[in-house]
Amino acid sequence: MDVAAIDAIVSKFPEIKGNLIGILHEVQNHFHYLPEEELRYLSKKTDIPITQIYSIVNFYNRFSLKPKGKNEICVCLGTACHVKGAEKVMNALEENLHIQKGQSTEDMNFSLEEVRCIGACSLAPAVVINEETYGLVTPNKIPLLLSKHKDG
Ligand code: FES
Repeated sequence: MDVAAIDAIVSKFPEIKGNLIGILHEVQNHFHYLPEEELRYLSKKTDIPITQIYSIVNFYNRFSLKPKGKNEICVCLGTACHVKGAEKVMNALEENLHIQKGQSTEDMNFSLEEVRCIGACSLAPAVVINEETYGLVTPNKIPLLLSKHKDG
């Protein structure tokens, strides 16, 4: 268990209870998911019941209790993106990464998720890799997009 990482994250927040979501974001950014042991330690350290932590974790899609890849790929399957061929983009990503949506690659370099409308409908179909949005994505652009993030 990485106690030092949790201590360092918590120490950044002068007020804990009102910043629980922010703290969980930082924990997830650090580990690429929310490890159970660390959440239990966080609960003890902050006196916030573990049930309260899990209710927040389960409420927000952004949080994951499963390990995620270093590069998080989210394919928008909202209506506008769907109409413009987002399923084909998702299929190309699954083929190139040899995983299904909801999974991570064996080397933990990539994970693949679907999301619904990220507010970039004019750029449909849209894909977000980490914090960056890519628009007008086509299946033949996938290998280049992945190579930009490989081991990065
Ligand atoms: S439907 Fe994909 S960005 Fe809006």
